[in-house]
Amino acid sequence: MAVAVRVEGLVKDYGKLRALSGISFEIPEGELFALLGPNGAGKTTTIRILTGLTRPTAGRAFFFERDIFSSPLYAKRLAGLVPQATNLDLELTVWENLLIHGLLFGMDRRSIQMRARELLEFSGLWDRRNHKVKTLSGGMRRRLLIIRALMHEPRILFLDEPTVGLDPHIRRRLWGLIKQIQTRGTTILLTTHYIEEAEFLADRVAFLDRGRIVALDTPQNLMTHLGEAAVDVVTPEGLKTKFFPNREEAEREAMKLSRAGETVTIRRVNLEDAFLHFTGRKV
Ligand SMILES: Nc1ncnc2c1ncn2[C@@H]1O[C@H](COP(=O)(O)OP(=O)(O)OP(=O)(O)O)[C@@H](O)[C@H]1O
Ligand SMILES: [Mg+2]
Repeated sequence: MAVAVRVEGLVKDYGKLRALSGISFEIPEGELFALLGPNGAGKTTTIRILTGLTRPTAGRAFFFERDIFSSPLYAKRLAGLVPQATNLDLELTVWENLLIHGLLFGMDRRSIQMRARELLEFSGLWDRRNHKVKTLSGGMRRRLLIIRALMHEPRILFLDEPTVGLDPHIRRRLWGLIKQIQTRGTTILLTTHYIEEAEFLADRVAFLDRGRIVALDTPQNLMTHLGEAAVDVVTPEGLKTKFFPNREEAEREAMKLSRAGETVTIRRVNLEDAFLHFTGRKV
């Protein structure tokens, strides 16, 4: 299996602030890899470095084993970027936004037409192609942002918080779209601070906290590290959670605690538990 993205010891300083403290990871071709972390963890910084928008202070990065800092044009051609802040041209139509992106990437008119049509149909935006972007809903704009990044057929897609601020219904629709893009063979690096998004979409998740990767594994392995069942106990300082290898042991402990007058709930271990465990912080 080819390694689509290899990152080695990336450091990024903004003046005195160290935004990334030497992170390393690899993404095999075809994988959906999520960087999960709270505000300011360094998610956007990582994506900006990998898409050539800023230079790292130290470290190396490769797409399919080729150094992206010494071959910036090669890297640009291979990568598609969905930025955190929507940067569509609001006064232009959906179609025109795709056309301009295609022209910037040196595509010929015929390829642009074919590709734009395919992507508009794929994303359910074909009927809106002649509407100005300013008339689209937030969810439609996000879909357009994603297909615009796919115009030049990138092999690696970077999605920076693709569903932030959207309602749960629209979010699920985008999850479907993102999964389909992966199924077509695109390698995806996604950032999010929604735990359930990483849990649902990602083959592997890296927990990023204050510029460091504190854990990296499949969502399943990150969770089973703690156990299978959790018991939440209400205390004056907030919820205290205990973890158990199986439901039976959790039930035994819950029984004991409630007999002692405590308020308890039993539930499955989730990815948030794992994140809290590895970082000691909430996302
Ligand atoms: N251009 C910049 N100049 C100075 N500091 C910056 C710059 N960009 C980011 N930072 C700082 O680097 C750190 C990491 O920022 P980054 O945007 O990568 O975080 P993030 O994980 O994407 O957060 P969020 O979830 O809020 O998008 C933060 O402390 C931020 O203030
Ligand atoms: Mg960000």
